[in-house]
Amino acid sequence: MVEPDQPSTARMIDFWLGGEHHFPVDVAAARDFEQAYGPCEPVFRELRAFLGRAVRAMAARGVDSFLVFGAGVPTMGNVHEVAPDATVLYTDVDPVTIRLGQRLLAGSDRAGYGYGDATDIGTVDRAQLHRFVPGWGRRPVGVVFLGLAAFLDDETLARTLDELYEATVPGSLLAVDFDTEELAGFPAALAMMGPAFRMRPPAAFVPLLGRWTPTGDGIVPIARWRPDGPPAQVPDAFHGGVAVHSPAC
Ligand SMILES: C[S@@+](CC[C@H](N)C(=O)[O-])C[C@H]1O[C@@H](n2cnc3c(N)ncnc32)[C@H](O)[C@@H]1O
Repeated sequence: MVEPDQPSTARMIDFWLGGEHHFPVDVAAARDFEQAYGPCEPVFRELRAFLGRAVRAMAARGVDSFLVFGAGVPTMGNVHEVAPDATVLYTDVDPVTIRLGQRLLAGSDRAGYGYGDATDIGTVDRAQLHRFVPGWGRRPVGVVFLGLAAFLDDETLARTLDELYEATVPGSLLAVDFDTEELAGFPAALAMMGPAFRMRPPAAFVPLLGRWTPTGDGIVPIARWRPDGPPAQVPDAFHGGVAVHSPAC
């Protein structure tokens, strides 16, 4: 595969998780970021563990197909690995990451990877959607929206989540997270995230969920979302949870 000349946050996360699906440009960016912020491996290990807990909880509620937006690299405890009986369509907008994902999942009959701009569901390939998320629009599905809110302004995020609500049926579940104001204390690291990067105080995020209703677990620091044991001691960089497409009546 041709090496990209720009790093991707998704492939930097793969590096921090100890994966093998990133390029020298991603490693260089990850090291620069750690110079400005500090160790990232524990933070992203916990973020991936949260994904696992959220997806397992969704599967336990009967969801057996997942549509993943801003998916990044589909390894290291990703959706199809923690819900092996489910079908999964991973999507992203970064062409290099998509090709990497397609190569990783080649030969899988339960998980696929394609282009999908979260802000326009119509960009997801219909054939892939029907193959890997067969209940889409007819029965409850899982939508995974992790690591993405930071790249969308409030208006776009609220509209996108509302369109996902409209496109799914009652009983569908949404795994979602957002970046807190942790990086405000690390201006050099924040600058590396670019001008479009959005941090949010918790009170500003929940209204953006619109009609999606958080489960009783709430939208909380990810380490405290249904921890398997004592919560991991990590910086309070991400909050998240699972929200339900509530029945209309
Ligand atoms: C921080 S990474 C998160 C990757 C993965 N979800 C995780 O948690 O490890 C953000 C990902 O969102 C993707 N992305 C950014 N804007 C997007 C959009 N509008 N629609 C879909 N994906 C997007 C990026 O290409 C990148 O792969």
